[in-house]
Amino acid sequence: RIVHVNGEFLPEAEAKVSVFDRGFLMADGVYEVTSVLGGKLIDFAGHCLRLARSLRELEMTNPHTDAEWLELHRQLVARNEIVDGMVYLQVTRGNPGDRDFAYPAADLPPTVVMFTQSKPGLAESPAAKTGWKVISVDDIRWGRRDIKTVQLLYPSMAKMAAKKAGVDDAWLVEDGFVTEGTSNNAYIVKGNRIITRALSSDILHGITRAAVLRFAVEAQMEVVERSFTLAEAQEADEAFITSASAFVMPVVQIDGKDLGTGKPGPVAARLREIYLDEMR
Ligand code: PDD
Repeated sequence: RIVHVNGEFLPEAEAKVSVFDRGFLMADGVYEVTSVLGGKLIDFAGHCLRLARSLRELEMTNPHTDAEWLELHRQLVARNEIVDGMVYLQVTRGNPGDRDFAYPAADLPPTVVMFTQSKPGLAESPAAKTGWKVISVDDIRWGRRDIKTVQLLYPSMAKMAAKKAGVDDAWLVEDGFVTEGTSNNAYIVKGNRIITRALSSDILHGITRAAVLRFAVEAQMEVVERSFTLAEAQEADEAFITSASAFVMPVVQIDGKDLGTGKPGPVAARLREIYLDEMR
């Protein structure tokens, strides 16, 4: 793979980042994942906007304009001949040359790392036909989940708990209410009503979420942004998640309890189709 580090395109084996990088020592950085379908970046503007917000919230300077970010993404997709897949980008606070809890001076250049992942047939994922099974785990993440930081240890632990339980993902639960999935936003469906947690610092403001809710309203579906409990989710007609990597993915089982028929429901299937049609 050809990766990007601080303005250079290099073979991955030649790419280097300092051991003193704040991203490595303190998880002091933010990231974005943008999917690519048929060579096209999906919802790039949304990801750029959220990146700028995450950086601002951490008092970091955005090292590039949106046009520059777009050019870097396009270059990386072209150099790696990505048809379907993902572009990962992260910006960390950089290398102050030593370990220190306080932020270094604001003029320290941040570290930019980007790479691609090739996923042929990403949109035709067989999992979308069978749906995901999930377990629930306590949401013990920090209180600023709206900032897309690279501190992903707990989501990794939750994903491993799901794997060990033989299922696809975990839904995180706080005070009885579902916040989101390990790396996706969570929804339940009751009749024609789509219910998903409202935006706050409790969840990541998904770019896919914004698009899917817009399409749902345009398709005359009813959208209610409110918290829902795990028990309510288990009694729902259907459920699904959204993310840049899974698009709209049906959820068919929660903690061993089948939802509805135990098969992907019509609302999730329709939203997936609309999303892919509109964004490709
Ligand atoms: N994850 N919630 C969390 C905690 C996430 O990490 C993500 C994205 C989402 C969905 O956001 P979006 O629709 O903008 O992808 C919600 C990415 C895909 C990842 O970490 O790989």
